[in-house]
Amino acid sequence: MLPAYLPNPVAALLGGGTPVDLGRNYTDGRRIFGDGKTFRGLVAGILAGIGIGLVQIWAWSAYNLVFLPGQTLLSVVLLAVGALLGDLVKSFFKRRFKKERGSRWPVADQYDLVAGAFVLLLIADPGWLFSRVTVPAFIFILILTPILHRAVNIIGYRVNVKEVPW
Ligand code: CTP
Ligand code: MG
Repeated sequence: MLPAYLPNPVAALLGGGTPVDLGRNYTDGRRIFGDGKTFRGLVAGILAGIGIGLVQIWAWSAYNLVFLPGQTLLSVVLLAVGALLGDLVKSFFKRRFKKERGSRWPVADQYDLVAGAFVLLLIADPGWLFSRVTVPAFIFILILTPILHRAVNIIGYRVNVKEVPW
């Protein structure tokens, strides 16, 4: 899950500048995505996710870690792109429900990246998804994700990268 987990914190760290919606509004008069979704965050986050995935591919083979679920170039790209696409889609619906940028939206804020990554894998590489993410692994991901999310956001808040601790 590393290629899916890394893009969000890296986007928070390196994001900013031109928003993906270019400041435009949706038909309801509210922003399409909001100022929290930027091109720089998207590009930096996806590259970071792909980068850590390539390190995994290299390390698994260099140290013969065949017992660990193997990444492929495709799985790495789908996990990283899917994580931030999920985040983007989440923000789209967050705006439609009149929630301001940075406001709290429990469950969606935590699981957007998992949903986005898994939906992309389901579409483009279901074989990888079902062979690597077994039922116990999936349950573990569902438990681990909100815990990691909370911990990383508190750290981000303390070091002044995030404006809110969620
Ligand atoms: N970020 C970015 N580009 C992205 C995703 C995130 O630049 N595609 C940066 C933004 O600076 C954002 C921060 O990372 O404020 C934290 O991300 P997130 O919590 O997802 O955004 P929010 O500001 O909370 O906005 P939203 O309410 O839409 O989730
Ligand atoms: Mg947020």
